[in-house]
Parts: sequence; C-alpha cells; structure tokens
Amino acid sequence: MSLLEIKDLSAYYITHVFGVKRDVKAVDNLTFSVEENEILGLAGESGCGKSTLLKVLLSMVKPPLKVLKGEVNYSYDSKNFNLLTLDENRLRKVRWEDISYIPQGSMSTFNPVRKIRKTFEDVIKTHKKNADKEVYEKLMEEHLKYLGLPLEVLDSYPHQLSGGMRQRTTIALATILEPKVIFADEPTTALDVVVQRGVIQMLKQLHREHRNTMVMVTHDMAVHANVVDRVAVMYAGKIVEISKKEKLFTNPSHPYSNFLINSLPKIGDRRQRASAPGNPPSLANPPEGCRFHPRCPYAKDICKKHIPKLIEAEKGHYVACFLFSDEVEEGENVVQQTTRG
Ligand SMILES: Nc1ncnc2c1ncn2[C@@H]1O[C@H](COP(=O)(O)OP(=O)(O)O)[C@@H](O)[C@H]1O
Ligand SMILES: [Mg+2]
Repeated sequence: MSLLEIKDLSAYYITHVFGVKRDVKAVDNLTFSVEENEILGLAGESGCGKSTLLKVLLSMVKPPLKVLKGEVNYSYDSKNFNLLTLDENRLRKVRWEDISYIPQGSMSTFNPVRKIRKTFEDVIKTHKKNADKEVYEKLMEEHLKYLGLPLEVLDSYPHQLSGGMRQRTTIALATILEPKVIFADEPTTALDVVVQRGVIQMLKQLHREHRNTMVMVTHDMAVHANVVDRVAVMYAGKIVEISKKEKLFTNPSHPYSNFLINSLPKIGDRRQRASAPGNPPSLANPPEGCRFHPRCPYAKDICKKHIPKLIEAEKGHYVACFLFSDEVEEGENVVQQTTRG
C-alpha cells in the first residue's frame, strides 16, 4: 500500500469580482500516489498548481481556495485517515510530527521579531508537552549539530541569517520531530548555486538517514535530475506524466515533459526559460480538452475536445496523452460532491 493515495482531488480558488464568479482550477481531478520512503518530485512551470496541490495535501486550505471533491488518504504506522476529514485537533497533532512542510521562501517560517530559538521551542513544546526544558534544549542542539548548523542560529533573528542559512534552519525546524513525510516547496529556488548545493545535500542526507518520504516541488528540472526518485509532471492543474526519474529524463512520453527536459538549464541557472512556445494558460479559463493542446506540436482533433486520462502505459509509468491511449478522463470537469475547504 502507498503512504499517500490521492483520489479524484479538485481544489479551486473561488472568487467573486463585481458579482462575477471566477474559478481558478488549480488542482483538477488528480489521482496518484506517493510511495513510502521515496522522493517524489513535482515538476512544471510556474502557475501550474504545484504549490496549491501541496497546500491541499497538507490540508492548509483557506478561502478563496476550496476543495471541491476528492480524498487525501495517508497510511503509515497502522494509521489510516483522509487528511481532509480530520478535525483541527488531530490535524494539529499530525502536522510537524508526522507530516511536515518546508514552505516556499524561508522568511515566512520565522517570526521576524523573535529569536529563532523561540520558534523551535514552540514547535517542540506543542508536540512534546511533558518534555522539560533540558530535554528540548538538547534535542534542538543535537539536531542542529547533526545537520551541520552552528548553534548561534538559535540566538539570531531571522534577518540576521543569510538566505542559505535561513533555508537550512527552516529545514532543521521542519525535521526536528522526525516526520514521516516532508513536503518542500521550491526549497532551492531563491538561493545561489553554491548554497543550493548545500541545501540539496542536507535534504539528501536527511532522506538517506531517516528514510522518510519526501515530496519536492520545484520548477528547476536540474534539481529533479539531482535529487528525486520519481517525477510527477504537472501542467495547468493536471498531472500529465509520472515516471521514474531515469526514464523521464532519457525517454519522456508526454510532449510537455519533453519540452521541460529539453529546456533543462545548467544547475543553478535560475532563469525561467521559455520551455515551450507560449505560456501555461490562465487556470480561470483553461483550454477545453487537453490543456496542453494549444502548445503541443502533436495536437489532434480529439485533444481539443476531450481530456486524456492518466493511464499506466507501462508498469509504474503513467501518462495522460492521446498519443498513448484513447481513454478519456471520467466525468471530465464534473464536480460531484463537496468536501471541506
Ligand atoms: N489566492 C489566490 N487566489 C486566486 N488565484 C490564486 C491564488 N493563489 C494562486 N492562484 C492561482 O492558482 C494557480 C496555481 O498557482 P500555484 O499553485 O501557486 O502554482 P505553482 O506553484 O505551480 O507556480 C495560478 O494560476 C495562480 O495565479
Ligand atoms: Mg509555487
């Protein structure tokens, strides 16, 4: 059984502007799973819904974002639950301790007017209520040392740290309670090359030694090539291909994956290249049929009318493209039930 099974998941930003309802279909009918102990990369250009998907997988859903349907089923250590139906108390318990998050932009993790030690203390205290001060001081110091961070960071304010140090401190905070699953959103994006390497090494070290599961979002294909086991490629709110990394990089199936790989920048090149002619569509008004068809050199008639289903083309290799199968997504764009959001 997979550690995380996502089923028929749709989450839209629903806004009303001058009485006109506008739905941004950022996560649209996704079904896929995350395996225990793997690093799954989530790839795709900016604006494709990667950060939104992470928020839903962490049940950090606030208006205008709303989950319209679907399940986010976790199972580990003989626990089985749909995260979207947990009450606030259980959610708080599960977060940090079991499921942890490295948000995009490390500045937002820490309170600018409090020393970093305070934030660490808060997190530990919330989850280890009976621990006395000595115990959690020791836990903090050992964890920082383990990750090669100087203890002085604890007595610093966030703005006193360099971007790279702050990002590594964010990772230390996210992993201090040894979570089962870590979600990281663009953990290297704002950093320069040398610092990127340090952050990647830190994530790899944690994974090697703790065998936790990681889901790593980045638009930087070089980071995927360097870090992950499998890649899920996201385009305009849909997952278009999931594959072992080696296979994806040597022989991508979906034309969009092909574009992403051909645009592979050198490690550390942070320019957003135009990877395919044009840009991802507005998700308030995405093209009908396959959302990639206006940019796709192989588009056929069916691509303009129907959404291709994500099918298992070969064992463990999923692709949603009419070049590989005629199967159409069930209930295309039909939203049947409403869950929490
Ligand atoms: N608070 C919001 N209100 C309305 N639309 C939003 C909001 N946040 C993000 N979006 C839109 O949702 C889409 C997906 O965004 P996001 O998940 O951030 O993509 P990515 O992380 O892949 O760059 C984009 O079109 C973005 O403009
Ligand atoms: Mg993002």
